Amino acid sequence: MSNRVRVIAPLNESDERTLADDVLDGLTRPFKELSPKHFYDEVGGELFDQICDLPEYYPTRAERSILEADGASIVVASGMAELIELGSGTADKTMILLDQAAAAGMLKRYVPFDVTEAMVRRCCQICGGRFSESEIIGVVGDFERHLAYIPPPIEGEARVVALLGGTIGNFVPGTRRQLLRAISALLRPGIDHLLLGTDLVKDPAIIEAAYNDSAGVTAAFNRNVLNVINRGLDADFDVEAFEHVAFYDRSHEWIEMRLRASRAMHVKINAISLGIDFASGEELRTEISAKFTPERLADDLAAAGLTLEQTWTDSEGRFALSLSSPAA
Ligand code: AVJ
Repeated sequence: MSNRVRVIAPLNESDERTLADDVLDGLTRPFKELSPKHFYDEVGGELFDQICDLPEYYPTRAERSILEADGASIVVASGMAELIELGSGTADKTMILLDQAAAAGMLKRYVPFDVTEAMVRRCCQICGGRFSESEIIGVVGDFERHLAYIPPPIEGEARVVALLGGTIGNFVPGTRRQLLRAISALLRPGIDHLLLGTDLVKDPAIIEAAYNDSAGVTAAFNRNVLNVINRGLDADFDVEAFEHVAFYDRSHEWIEMRLRASRAMHVKINAISLGIDFASGEELRTEISAKFTPERLADDLAAAGLTLEQTWTDSEGRFALSLSSPAA
């Protein structure tokens, strides 16, 4: 790879401890829980791609339709010379923005940032070929902990940090604001922007269907986190003995996914010498996915020192992309 295209991979052994630490912390709580970031091993990534194609799972298509209709406006409004994408994955939808910025002769640099090293390398290879005039700098890391590895901005060139897909909804309100604040620190007032994708509050039946698809892909995605623990920490979860549960919590306006033990079980997690008991019917929380009103979005951004400048929604008002900027 030329210097124009490169990958920064700062993960070391202590980072491999996070699954162990998260499992130890989460499974010994009075209400057991696991972080949704552990869904995304190779299999989990593929299951998530399948979710995006499900008829019931509307967020991906809704966000794509906004990018197709308004991508050019977003590029112009932000002056996008550098795009940093947190949780870039396959960068499938992002190509719409990158193509627009490159066609306008604006794209100086793209920084895909993801926990999965293979994804980052593949993305850099593809983008390196496709955007021959641009610098492509992949960063392998966890955006809750490794934002400092992002290279400094290009002087005088507008930077956009993108967090798409509704991923911000995976964070509870306090952590969400902390993360937005940390992202805001990457942005210079008067020139840079945050581009945020948020799923919107709507008829609960539509939301619940998106997380309870009839093909059972979301159920497999949810249970896969137990395979991740079995493999990563030498555990003996009987994966099939856990039932997929997803419901919309109307007071918090978020989806909660859980795994329900269909019988009493004792599970051994050998790598951390931990034994865990599940009562029959006990539930383990695996994800929250918050849905936003325009007010909540503006409030969360404001609490992180960001000012909402412009919002684009799809024709059915299901999903929003917003551009905000740090206060001077
Ligand atoms: C990738 C976090 C946006 O919350 O909708 C899909 C993950 N979970 N189906 C979401 C997910 C269940 C997704 N995000």
